[in-house]
Amino acid sequence: MNRLTLAALTGTPGTGKSSISSLLSLGGYLVFNVTDFIDLPEAGSVETGESIEVDTDMLRTRVAGRIGSTGPGLAFISGHLSHFVDCDVAIVLRCEPHVLRKRLDGRGWSSAKVIENVRAEVLDVILVEAAERINEVFEVDTTGRNPGESMAAVLRAAMERPDDLRPGSIDWTGEIEEWF
Ligand SMILES: Nc1ncnc2c1ncn2[C@@H]1O[C@H](COP(=O)(O)OP(=O)(O)O)[C@@H](O)[C@H]1O
Ligand SMILES: [Mg+2]
Repeated sequence: MNRLTLAALTGTPGTGKSSISSLLSLGGYLVFNVTDFIDLPEAGSVETGESIEVDTDMLRTRVAGRIGSTGPGLAFISGHLSHFVDCDVAIVLRCEPHVLRKRLDGRGWSSAKVIENVRAEVLDVILVEAAERINEVFEVDTTGRNPGESMAAVLRAAMERPDDLRPGSIDWTGEIEEWF
């Protein structure tokens, strides 16, 4: 890869962005958080309809500056707002809503905040936001996988752009009546 490929690692809170980012870093991949480069409102919940101005030229320059000329051609930007950056590819982490609720229940958040995020997952909020902004979008289902397996799928999405990870196969809308 000659040109730097920037991959946004995004998803509803609790889908595994931080866990997978840590594994990617341990594996030697460059992983940044959006907040490394720009000040954003406090992370933690999905706010629909949110519009964020990001200086993407500055972001790319800073990332490229950190990588240098001999570094790898692939860098990740992690965070539930990372798909607002003009990345080459967005990888949206997904989690079945009941499982996501269990993950979020362990955080000490209010039940309203937990349900708000579970509902956002049911409604594909982040997937839709990403698809509106980024040409190449992939989904990785973290349900019933461990973080290492999820990381492998993330890398496959970023490097191979495989059809089986393109949006379409994950659908929680059958649970809408249960959550709304
Ligand atoms: N396949 C998986 N991928 C990522 N995280 C997983 C997976 N299975 C279970 N988890 C757990 O789900 C939680 C995800 O939390 P975290 O990584 O902080 O998510 P986020 O950064 O998206 O909010 C962690 O406790 C992690 O151990
Ligand atoms: Mg996180």
